[in-house]
Amino acid sequence: DRLPELLRRMPKAELHVHIEGTLEPELILALARRNQVDVGYDSVEALRQAYNFTDLQSFLDIYYAGACVLREARDFEDMARAYLERAAADNVVHAEIFFDPQTHTARGVSMEKVITGLHRACERARDEQGVNATLILCFLRHLSEEEAFETLEQALPFRDKFIGIGLDSSEVGHPPEKFARLFARCRELGLHLVAHAGEEGPPAYVWTALNLLRVERIDHGVQSAKDPMLMQRLAQDQIPLTVCPLSNLKLKVFPDLAAHNIGRLLGAGLCVTVNSDDPAYFGGYMNDNFVQTFAATGLGARQAYQLALNSFNASFVSERVKRNYG
Ligand code: HPA
Ligand code: ZN
Repeated sequence: DRLPELLRRMPKAELHVHIEGTLEPELILALARRNQVDVGYDSVEALRQAYNFTDLQSFLDIYYAGACVLREARDFEDMARAYLERAAADNVVHAEIFFDPQTHTARGVSMEKVITGLHRACERARDEQGVNATLILCFLRHLSEEEAFETLEQALPFRDKFIGIGLDSSEVGHPPEKFARLFARCRELGLHLVAHAGEEGPPAYVWTALNLLRVERIDHGVQSAKDPMLMQRLAQDQIPLTVCPLSNLKLKVFPDLAAHNIGRLLGAGLCVTVNSDDPAYFGGYMNDNFVQTFAATGLGARQAYQLALNSFNASFVSERVKRNYG
């Protein structure tokens, strides 16, 4: 069977990866030592054993704890470099990378250290791996609108180093409309807009992300399948969904990969993409997501080609560059 080989070798874009979610246990421990931070775990095995999640929140608690080892610009650079090398090995040629500045500024790490460290790794990846990497600043939705606006102010001196903004963290109870004014401001600033919606939350959150936040893509969005009118809207406007199958599996959004609705979303004509979300925590990078999902759901070469094409169409690279990929 040559399908896994096709999946691994095809060029692809990754549009939904949280850089803090690429911190492997080995790097967490190395940075803990370098920065003399106590993470509460003394071995790779102990850390990995803590990675048995029951839902989004149980993951987020550990994900935020792991990020505490990041103190200096070079820590952010080392983390992003490790991800970009790993992504290049999976034939990812374009990556739009989420980062969560509030997780760091709340601990006294400056916005400048966070962004310049990550940006340096992106520049180096272009030169050394031929990977085109850009950054998307995510706001934590469990925090207030006011804190989000403060974070935006802190980031604006580095406006040229990120292309857009997103919304992540605990979804249920923090609907998109909480950030309508923030997104309106970011829209005026010419930033691209995306938001997590319909991962654990209801289709109503996908509707408000589209209609009130006016996002260009929905991150996850798998709960949209519960609402036929929403499915129609997503298909009609070709709103991309950045789906993360192994994440959905580990956070128990679906009981197993065979039950994942990616085939149904694709079949309904939606612009679906495959992504890794937090690969160090969910047990797989891009090609693991592709190979395992195809094996479990019975998708074939036609869908492989469609997903790769969708990943470039859904990306924020210029139309001129897109024509070259197509
Ligand atoms: N959902 C919400 N917030 C996140 C995620 C996710 O899958 N990963 C990292 N932060
Ligand atoms: Zn995510």
